[in-house]
Amino acid sequence: LAGLKGVGEAVSKPLEYYFNNLVSTMVISKMCLKYGVGKFVFSSSATVYGDQPSPLKEDMELKKTTNPYGEIKAMSERILTDTSIANPNFSVSLLRYFNPVGAHESGLIGEDPNGIPNNLMPFVTKVAKGQLEKLSVFGNDYDTIDGTGVRDYIHVVDLAKGHVKAIENLKDGVNIYNLGTGRGTSVLELVNAFMKVNDIDVPYEIVGRRPGDIATCFADVSKAKKELGWKAELGIEEMVRDAWRFEQNNK
Ligand code: UFG
Repeated sequence: LAGLKGVGEAVSKPLEYYFNNLVSTMVISKMCLKYGVGKFVFSSSATVYGDQPSPLKEDMELKKTTNPYGEIKAMSERILTDTSIANPNFSVSLLRYFNPVGAHESGLIGEDPNGIPNNLMPFVTKVAKGQLEKLSVFGNDYDTIDGTGVRDYIHVVDLAKGHVKAIENLKDGVNIYNLGTGRGTSVLELVNAFMKVNDIDVPYEIVGRRPGDIATCFADVSKAKKELGWKAELGIEEMVRDAWRFEQNNK
């Protein structure tokens, strides 16, 4: 959870990313073996699937990743898997996050990215607050419901609960779980929901596609439901409401 998380930043600073994210995973695994810690939950990402048709399932073969951030997630999954095979007392849960958004409903815990946000939701909240002029929607010519990119947004509180379930139900060996809602939402659907629920305007313009983006990415969530007894409970309305509540509190 202390990993660096900027896809674009990883492209411009690959060594920093490989060093921080990959080496730290190896060091922590090594210390786990040394001190007899046999349960490891890893924050992976849907990006390891590469560009292939959704819904994405845990047993799908992984396709080529498109940036160092994704490559490090895929490499970390392999390193942890090999380590578990060689050390049967070291069990690993690989959690593939889809698109975490929102904030704790108290409005006290949320994300405040450094500089100009790369991700959609923090960009939207900064535009709504008047700190950024308008949102650029990256492409409206994808083969999706309205031409804009479709993602599986998941409320951070649901994501956190997924971790608790993963720890409580950790099984021997390596087990992989998608943490998403199983539903796809387009950029325009998300922006429109934000405006409607929060009764605030978010000016936007359609611009060209962002390099490396895929059209659609959403999860098959049946495995987590069956094996962990977990499913996401909060929807887009709660996500946009809580993201905005946190941003308003965030001085
Ligand atoms: N988007 C815009 N304008 C913006 C920002 C994003 O239109 O200013 C669009 C993107 O084109 C995409 C969607 O909003 O269609 C979501 O983009 P994000 O940057 O919020 O999220 P990504 O799906 O690109 O990336 C996220 C995580 C990565 C992770 C990846 C896994 O940020 O860490 O999901 O699929 F690797």
